[in-house]
Amino acid sequence: MSLRTALEERGMDGVLSVARQAGPAAEAALKADLESVDWTMLDRQRRALEKGEPKGAGKIQPPEVKPASTSGAPENAAAEEAGWAALRKGRVAIATVAGGQASRLGFQGPKGAYPLGSVGGSSLFQMMAGQIARLRALTGAALPWIIQTGPGNHEETVEYFARRSFYGLGSRTVHFACQGTLPALTPEGQFLLASPGALFRNPDGHGGFYRALREAHLPEKLRAQGIDTVFYCQVDNPLVRMGDPIFLGHHLLEKARMSVKVVAKEDPHEKVGLIVRREDGRLGCIEYSDLPDELSEAREADGTLTYRAGNIALHAFDLRFLEEMAEAALPLHQARKDILALKGSSPEPVKQAGVKFETFVFDALPLADGAMVQLAERAEEFAPVKNASGNDSVATSREALNARTRRWAKEAGLALPEHGAVEIQSGLCYDKGDLIAQAPGLRLAAGGHLITG
Ligand code: UD1
Repeated sequence: MSLRTALEERGMDGVLSVARQAGPAAEAALKADLESVDWTMLDRQRRALEKGEPKGAGKIQPPEVKPASTSGAPENAAAEEAGWAALRKGRVAIATVAGGQASRLGFQGPKGAYPLGSVGGSSLFQMMAGQIARLRALTGAALPWIIQTGPGNHEETVEYFARRSFYGLGSRTVHFACQGTLPALTPEGQFLLASPGALFRNPDGHGGFYRALREAHLPEKLRAQGIDTVFYCQVDNPLVRMGDPIFLGHHLLEKARMSVKVVAKEDPHEKVGLIVRREDGRLGCIEYSDLPDELSEAREADGTLTYRAGNIALHAFDLRFLEEMAEAALPLHQARKDILALKGSSPEPVKQAGVKFETFVFDALPLADGAMVQLAERAEEFAPVKNASGNDSVATSREALNARTRRWAKEAGLALPEHGAVEIQSGLCYDKGDLIAQAPGLRLAAGGHLITG
């Protein structure tokens, strides 16, 4: 179908007139931009716009939750063995989504570049790279790392890694996959123009991860290496146990196609999605912004929240399922915003009502057979960096890291200074057990504040 027909059929051909007035270069540029529009997706966007955001959570139940990933716990024994076996066999890749802008944090640059380490100033990326390096050393596996970037930070992220020699992981085992964009629309379903030659587009949300992998031809590359399972996390949580063997083990033993880790919510209004069992028996996630108060505030007789499975956006995936999700029609979430775009014949963009569309990774959960939920102990695994101050900030995340290091060091018999931040050198140890095992060979630097080898 020609571009003209595609536009005319949808009553959207007016978009070309502004470009035409601006001259042949703008017209050619806009036509090229329009050629790359996914019309099937655009039709879904326009239908979603007509329907509005789906309301109501329906009848829900709390999900069944597996016990936390405590190493050595009898209830995790089989999973722990299965997870380590899969890692050693080289069946696992790690993926981190790092595509958003760090706007809430007020940081210029990719969020992963944020220097979170209180003693050595390690960035979030460096902390994660260190864990992967150590896990590779423990398992002997290649353990590739996929970093999903966004159009606003792709080049900067790739350059960031190149300048740091990929933290010694090897450039061929760190893959970057850039998420796509979706055109924003007016409330009436027309295109908006950022300039006479370009549509106004926004990143397609972290649900763009599935397509980004496909566009980067990663599923086939991973499969050729014998990989069938992907561990997924967000770049903002420095406490994440990358490639957690116990989580992967439960996921594999349950033959789940996708799994998720949760923390027990204590604050009903904590900004985490809620994992629930839906009326149709499938697992789902209700985003915090869509959660009605009567659900978030419901309590059991003992005072605990009835719905408390807080999504920490940590997943395990079957590789085939990841590929299938690139084709799936995931729900389109809409954000009505003021958008800076051209209007009428005005030469400069002006603020006007518009709608941005996004898809979310967790919306694949209802499509996943056998989806498994596992608890994470908050103090051990979750302290995200989202905001410049207050909840989920640099300060709270550093505090949680520091407290965890002190707990581990105490068990490992390492004497630390009574006050001040302490840090484990990036890449030195994978988890508490690893620190304890290595303790006799470790020393303290930076006046006792840095545990090093
Ligand atoms: C997210 C989840 C929420 C979960 C919480 C846990 C959503 C909508 N909600 O909330 O259910 O409880 O994390 O911390 O995600 N990203 C991209 N591309 C994008 C947008 C985001 O790669 O287009 C990445 C970011 O780099 C970040 C992650 O996704 O690593 C989370 O994004 P963010 O917008 O911070 O999500 P939250 O609202 O905090």
